[in-house]
Amino acid sequence: MSLQRVLTGITTSGTPHLGNYVGAVRPTVRASRLPNTQNFYFLADYHALIKTGGAPERVQRSTLEIAATWLACGLDPEKVTFYRQSDIPEIPELTWLLTCITGKGLLNRAHAYKASVDKNHATGEDPDAGVTAGLFMYPVLMAADILMFNAHQVPVGRDQIQHIEMARDIASSFNHLYGEHFTLPEAVTEDHVALLPGLDGRKMSKSYDNTIPLFAPKEQLRKLIMGILTDSRAPGEPKDTEGSALFQLYQAFASTEETAALAQAYADGIAWGEAKQVLFDRLEREIAPMREVYDALIQNPVQIEKTLKGGAEKARAIATPFTARLRHAVGLRSLADLPSGTTTKAAKAAAPAFKQYREKDGQFYFKLVDAQGKLLIQSSGFPAPRDAADAIRQLQSQGETALVALQDRLSLTGDRSEISTALQHFAPTVT
Ligand code: TRP
Repeated sequence: MSLQRVLTGITTSGTPHLGNYVGAVRPTVRASRLPNTQNFYFLADYHALIKTGGAPERVQRSTLEIAATWLACGLDPEKVTFYRQSDIPEIPELTWLLTCITGKGLLNRAHAYKASVDKNHATGEDPDAGVTAGLFMYPVLMAADILMFNAHQVPVGRDQIQHIEMARDIASSFNHLYGEHFTLPEAVTEDHVALLPGLDGRKMSKSYDNTIPLFAPKEQLRKLIMGILTDSRAPGEPKDTEGSALFQLYQAFASTEETAALAQAYADGIAWGEAKQVLFDRLEREIAPMREVYDALIQNPVQIEKTLKGGAEKARAIATPFTARLRHAVGLRSLADLPSGTTTKAAKAAAPAFKQYREKDGQFYFKLVDAQGKLLIQSSGFPAPRDAADAIRQLQSQGETALVALQDRLSLTGDRSEISTALQHFAPTVT
């Protein structure tokens, strides 16, 4: 299997709760240990500004808490690239390049933006009341996050799937206009993770104010658990596991055997107080060791800052040269690269280009043609567009070196010096 790049971000606007842990942090940390993956995890603090306008301390505090959470839950910053979005100035730069090719109509259809407009309509307000341009642009910033690292897979909650589809659309438009630069990302959703209920039985969510903070101090955790909504059945009366928030919470942490045992206890009429104690003990068993690490990390923000800066360095080792290539692609170029005495006509001359297409056999092909349209390289068929795009990218970034690696897939119809000249045209120029 080829190396898969996996990328995901968490908006730094709140305190991580059990729902975040079960739905995002725990599966992501586990996935980061799988072979054949290269993982990028980041703190989406630019995104946080959209929701937290006017609350700078909250953004800072949340950044600290979320970073400490990931590290305490076992994310290894040596193995993955773990960084803070705002440490990568190439991200807002790419956001602008993408903004310029993104249809306003596409953004009009984004769920989060539309929900705000619909709410205004419902209350008879001006449709744009309280809607910032940041909310409107949210999907473009998110596309920049993803496309910058050419991620194949983006693990997200279901509410984010549309954003990944938009990132694909934006990437396709850019590739179409400027050549094959971006991998088309795919959303990965964990269908089997149950949505965790909160204290009142509704989905655990900050907006319902029913969350259990992941690293609440032990006594506070106990108090919160004791406050979970149950029905009024007395001790000794059999109880339903169906629809029991307490039971679902337990299930998210317990083994199959433990869960079966609690189901039996429900049938046998366990008292609610006792069931809550069972849940508390089980949670505490998983959380306590991580809480200890978390508390130590929170006491040491300088250390976390250092870790994030180290991650940013790794991320920028990719982002900086890639951005140089993208700048060149869109025409933000040094004038010193132009031959002096250039005539208008010569300046307009076409450049070599990769063309990607699909044949009737259903396979995906590409060719390299020179400035005059002469065929230099013809690929064989690839099963998926992504494979063809990966090969093109390899040729663009590695030039002739890639000809060797890809020799089985290419027939070279131009002569070697023509091919070499054409490929040099795509070489990243870092100035
Ligand atoms: N929008 C995501 C959320 O609120 C966070 C996010 C920002 C993200 N950029 C991303 C997720 C890029 C995945 C990839 O959950």
